[in-house]
Amino acid sequence: MLSQKYKTAFITGASSGIGRAIAEMLLAEGVRVWGTARDTARLAPLAQKHPGAFTPVALDLDDSDAAMAALEKAACNAGATGTTADALGLTRSFDIVINNAGYGAFAPFASVDFSLWQKQLDAMLATTARLAQTAFRAMQARRRGCLVNISSLVVDFPLPYMSGYNMAKAGLSALSASLAFEARGTPVCVIDFRPGDYRTSFNHVMQPASGNPAGVAQDERVASVWKTVDAQFNAAPLPERAARDLRRALRRGRSGTVRSGTFFQARLAPLGARLLPGRLLRAIAAHYFGDR
Ligand SMILES: NC(=O)c1ccc[n+]([C@@H]2O[C@H](COP(=O)([O-])OP(=O)(O)OC[C@H]3O[C@@H](n4cnc5c(N)ncnc54)[C@H](OP(=O)(O)O)[C@@H]3O)[C@@H](O)[C@H]2O)c1
Repeated sequence: MLSQKYKTAFITGASSGIGRAIAEMLLAEGVRVWGTARDTARLAPLAQKHPGAFTPVALDLDDSDAAMAALEKAACNAGATGTTADALGLTRSFDIVINNAGYGAFAPFASVDFSLWQKQLDAMLATTARLAQTAFRAMQARRRGCLVNISSLVVDFPLPYMSGYNMAKAGLSALSASLAFEARGTPVCVIDFRPGDYRTSFNHVMQPASGNPAGVAQDERVASVWKTVDAQFNAAPLPERAARDLRRALRRGRSGTVRSGTFFQARLAPLGARLLPGRLLRAIAAHYFGDR
């Protein structure tokens, strides 16, 4: 059971998809979970199913200061009710912190106002890195804990027409690599978790507009890619598989990159991305993503 190693966890974006599957996995493992959503009503099913073990937290990545306050308040709450009270009073932290919340935006880079990309970078990179800093600092002080940043296989193989998302996830993986280096030789672990396609709400809430991303209707090439990406997404495995992969990584408790998904996406494509020349890779990507 993970609860032998970890008592408390904080996870952003627990209301749906991968975050919800991870929250369920942790709760089944006896870990007490603080999970977030912008509207805590979306967390009611988890709270009702796991009374006393799951605590809903309101957190919006678009409001960086409020997101920080939400993490700090939840950490005080976890420390106050936790079992350990160390001499330094550093109980204000979680054993596991998982930066999972995020969303996609699908549009040709130049076709939309830059504010769309700016907002995504602010939420999914800057605010997420701020949350990571607070969590990592407390873990270093306590000399225990595991920070997990949910990145994506887009870092190995970028998705077409998702430049803001690709940038945010590449930055997040770079942050994880930096922190894994800083944590070397200490009991703190940092996991760069990269899922491939998982069937969640991700494509349904895709920005700028659900079901009709900008540029799709006007441009045949973009429309063809969207159709292919969406079809691949709808045939993808369920997020419980990602939660199982993360469970194994948490049990190991070692820093590093964990790729999760189908054999093609999580094994073959990253290997190809390392070995093949860029021109060939772009030709393969064009074929794979239906860029006619
Ligand atoms: N599904 C995939 O194929 C896939 C692949 C690779 C990586 N990922 C990553 O996995 C993570 C979870 O995605 P998912 O597929 O599970 O999607 P999802 O089902 O749409 O869940 C997204 C979660 O993030 C929260 N969220 C979204 N925008 C937010 C914001 N601005 N502030 C705070 N919370 C926000 C949502 O909460 P509320 O809407 O309730 O506030 C929800 O709980 C994301 O970081 C995503 O990039 C997903």
